[in-house]
Amino acid sequence: MKTYKVAVIAGDGIGPEVIDEGVKVLNKIAELDQHFEFDFTYFPWGCEYYSEHGKMMAEDGIEKLKEFDAIYLGAVGFPGVPDHISLWDLLLIIRKEFDQYVNIRPVKLLEGAHCPLSDVKREDIDMLFIRENTEGEYSGAGDWLFKGKENEVVLQNGVFSRKGTERIIRYAFETAKKQGRSLTSISKANALNYSMVFWDQVFEEVSEEYPEVETASYLVDAAAMLMITDPKRFEVVVTSNLFGDILTDVGAALAGGIGLAAGANVNPERKYPSMFEPVHGSAPDIAGQGIGNPLASIWSASQMLDHFGYEQYGKLIIDAIEQLLIEGQTLTPDMKGSASTSEVGDRLIEMITTNS
Ligand code: NAI
Ligand code: MG
Repeated sequence: MKTYKVAVIAGDGIGPEVIDEGVKVLNKIAELDQHFEFDFTYFPWGCEYYSEHGKMMAEDGIEKLKEFDAIYLGAVGFPGVPDHISLWDLLLIIRKEFDQYVNIRPVKLLEGAHCPLSDVKREDIDMLFIRENTEGEYSGAGDWLFKGKENEVVLQNGVFSRKGTERIIRYAFETAKKQGRSLTSISKANALNYSMVFWDQVFEEVSEEYPEVETASYLVDAAAMLMITDPKRFEVVVTSNLFGDILTDVGAALAGGIGLAAGANVNPERKYPSMFEPVHGSAPDIAGQGIGNPLASIWSASQMLDHFGYEQYGKLIIDAIEQLLIEGQTLTPDMKGSASTSEVGDRLIEMITTNS
């Protein structure tokens, strides 16, 4: 029996509520397969931990997490702790320390999910965003000079290394080649005259190694518009850290809302654990009511199964989510339903069991 050791950082707000459902689904899949199991270890890190200990995670948190096969994260952030602290001292540290340089975010419109565009076909919205995840605009490099003085100056530097830019673009080409789909690069070389000119150049260079992959390249502002007016242009998409962050929220809106958007932070070399998490935050406005939509966190659990090589189970979960949406009986209030978080998880597990 193979055992996958998974570190669970359920986090704040609705984090623990939605993660519980993902854990239930993963255990059900293991039970159905009978050849592997999950060993979940919970870490109480996040904003509550911060208010007690003055830090978001234990001092040796990264050391502790290193030994796991994967990390399953809910969300961190809560009123009272500044967002840049909760984000930087936990999430971004993990992404960087574990060299999770690929952020994979599917933007796929399932049948039954609400799309705000009136005249699109479901199959027209099927994108796979590959976002650079360890440097770029979120490098954390900068300075704050003459704080509070009249001549105050703030610098926030983008870092685009040759290694970092090449490897994310190459990963995207490999993915597009494997899937037999086109690859679109999104940048902004007209205004960002160093970083994005470089990005475009590297995209050109790497594309020569993949003559079979059809490519396109857009400026980020045009891309934001085209995602709304002509979404079917986008298949596999590669972009920088900031642009990917913003555009995948546009994508989430197109594909049924933030309650369905999932993401994987992957270290492709598997030297370190990869981390799976819903795109949404801790939703303090609905926390504690048991009505957070667990589908995004369950979708990210399916990405974990893909990562472990069980793509058949990843698909089983996505198919069940689609079936649940079509049925429309057991949905949380954000999807105009009246079910609770755990009722959604339970109904999904019934469907998975029936379909397996
Ligand atoms: P948010 O995603 O937490 O909430 C935005 C809106 O969407 C809210 O109205 C919320 O109720 C709703 N929503 C989000 N997820 C939902 C779900 N699963 N089911 C039903 N409704 C859902 O974003 P917001 O309000 O900007 O941030 C709240 C906190 O979360 C902040 O502290 C922020 O820093 C943090 N955050 C953390 C992230 C992470 O840990 N990965 C990502 C984004 C935000
Ligand atoms: Mg975001």
